[in-house]
Amino acid sequence: MAVLRFPQSPHGRGPVRGDPEENLQIDSEAEIRVALAPLGIDYERWSLDRVPDDASADEVLAAYTNEIDEMKRRGGYVTADVIDVNPTTPNLEAMLARFDKEHTHDEDEVRFILSGRGIFFLHLDQKVVSVEVGPGDMLRVPRGTTHWFTLCEDRRIRAIRWFQATSGWTPLYTVSGLERGYQPLCLGPAYLGPRLRSTISA
Ligand SMILES: [Fe+2]
Repeated sequence: MAVLRFPQSPHGRGPVRGDPEENLQIDSEAEIRVALAPLGIDYERWSLDRVPDDASADEVLAAYTNEIDEMKRRGGYVTADVIDVNPTTPNLEAMLARFDKEHTHDEDEVRFILSGRGIFFLHLDQKVVSVEVGPGDMLRVPRGTTHWFTLCEDRRIRAIRWFQATSGWTPLYTVSGLERGYQPLCLGPAYLGPRLRSTISA
């Protein structure tokens, strides 16, 4: 289950102290979807019971054929793969360093998390929101969105990715340094921070 937060920042890009959104979090599927939709971000929860944890990448892709094809139809994606990152991954630090600085790219960033956790920081409309994603979460960050991504402390994630070109995409760094003002801390869905309950009326 994902957790959406409005992190405080010393740069004043998040809610300022005293704002109703300060340090609030949303941790229900419906509320996260409703909060992110106006920002152009798609969020869904998908079933995880298709494959065992030790399934191969090919088994994962076969098990999720329907979802993969549906996403291809929705977003014009031409290919999908499974990324598997853990502390033994070669050049892990260099790989993470490509994504943990504020950037954009001209392709959507689409992930369905099979295992592990990470945080997307989304710089939207002069504010930064963070989405901590975990198993069962599907997140689509549209092309052009200013964002960065980091893994949680155990540095593990396995996810299906979709691409609009077989060549993949290249990050375009903003060089803002904004990411240095935000703690890449994963608190997990069990963390009982203040909750935002006014995002949906029903
Ligand atoms: Fe990215």
